[in-house]
Amino acid sequence: MKHPSTLRGPHGKLGVLLPGLGAVATTTIAGVLLARQGKGQPVGSLTQMGTVRLGKRTEKRSPKISEVVPLAGLDELEFGGWDIFPDDVYEAAAHAKVLEAQHLDAVRGEMQAIRPMKGVFYPGYVRRLHGTHTKTAATKADMVEQVRSDIRTFKRDRGCERLVAVWCGSTERYITASGVHESIASFEDGLRKDDPTISNAQIYAWACMKERVPFANGAPNLCVDFPAAWALARECHTPIAGKDFKTGQTLMKTILAPGLKARMLGLRGWYSTNILGNRDGEVLDDPDSFKTKEVSKLGVLEHILHPGTNAELYGDFVHKVRIDYYPPRGDAKESWDNIDLFGWLGYPMQLKVDFLCRDSILAAPVVLDLALFMDLAARANFQGTQEWLSFYFKSPMSAPGLYPEHDLFVQLTKLKNTLRWMAGEEVISHLGTEYYAA
Ligand SMILES: NC(=O)c1ccc[n+]([C@@H]2O[C@H](COP(=O)([O-])OP(=O)(O)OC[C@H]3O[C@@H](n4cnc5c(N)ncnc54)[C@H](O)[C@@H]3O)[C@@H](O)[C@H]2O)c1
Repeated sequence: MKHPSTLRGPHGKLGVLLPGLGAVATTTIAGVLLARQGKGQPVGSLTQMGTVRLGKRTEKRSPKISEVVPLAGLDELEFGGWDIFPDDVYEAAAHAKVLEAQHLDAVRGEMQAIRPMKGVFYPGYVRRLHGTHTKTAATKADMVEQVRSDIRTFKRDRGCERLVAVWCGSTERYITASGVHESIASFEDGLRKDDPTISNAQIYAWACMKERVPFANGAPNLCVDFPAAWALARECHTPIAGKDFKTGQTLMKTILAPGLKARMLGLRGWYSTNILGNRDGEVLDDPDSFKTKEVSKLGVLEHILHPGTNAELYGDFVHKVRIDYYPPRGDAKESWDNIDLFGWLGYPMQLKVDFLCRDSILAAPVVLDLALFMDLAARANFQGTQEWLSFYFKSPMSAPGLYPEHDLFVQLTKLKNTLRWMAGEEVISHLGTEYYAA
């Protein structure tokens, strides 16, 4: 990435396009509308509440992130999106049952005004859903053109200067990159031939990149993490990021595992199980969608613990992840972790975590931050994979041949150093020897 010597300011409105207006998207939108009116605080959002230390500790400079880099303000955001069901955002939020009536009613009118554009829905990628509010097209290539036309119409009608997109749609079935995903030409040929390994999410992402709309993937399915997408992102000078919002259990895992590793405590096994009862849980009840999520969740420990370099501590641990759809819980997920670890002379210990969380409450600030940081990235002329945003993802994309960084604290350091670097401030190494010089 080149240093953004000309970081453009956030002038005008920023359109935030969310394919998939379900629990996460509607909770994000409601939260932003409430925060604008001072009726709720955007807790969990770095862009709204985070600070960044600048210079030496003795300088005592820790401004808010929004004072260090030029971010779009909440008042400048204009939301839109697609769904395969026709409910407006208020109805969809009421159906998702994340927020209480007192919150939804305070922004009812604004939420009702946001109606989904018809979704791209080739069945089979999300088997548990049977969409009714869907587009038809002769080929997948024509479908891309329809989405591009939606994007342009939205931008014009809402008077937006810039757009970003964050995929908040359901988790699609497990697909691995194949020949069709190798190059722009092979992908476009695949679009014309309705290749079955090109999913709905990939169609939205392709349309966004073609329109130079930065695109972040919040779900674990294959979407912008293959060579053709990397090439198109470069060609269109568009930032891309993914994948799978880091919330709940994996967030905790990437907080705890670096701690065990830092103190050289060994691991024999990590068993994780979840119950959740929202639509996401219902979709993940299908083995093919679960497989996508499982792969995304399983990579985390290996990349934090590096079994290859510490075989005596991490060479032989068992890692299991389970998700069970349990409707009574709705969005209030509960996740349990049983961690079998060992210490001095190999003596065994156990650690149990019971996290009674709320999935969409944890995901909403991630969506907001990604929208604002992806817009910042575009204005800084960054293109392709935005590894500095790994902080937000369970399965972060990284350059080919580079292992992804999963440790939350390394990710945060990288994010804040990128912001310092963008702002022309010194990056901080935390070495600190100057304080003790003779
Ligand atoms: N909530 C979290 O903590 C969290 C964490 C990581 C990832 N995610 C992922 O974020 C996504 C959204 O989660 P959610 O809880 O809002 O799920 P949800 O089921 O409430 O919402 C998903 C929405 O996407 C729509 N949809 C499905 N296919 C579509 C298509 N082709 N085009 C347009 N819309 C489509 C569905 O109709 C639904 O309204 C899921 O993929 C989930 O796995 C969520």
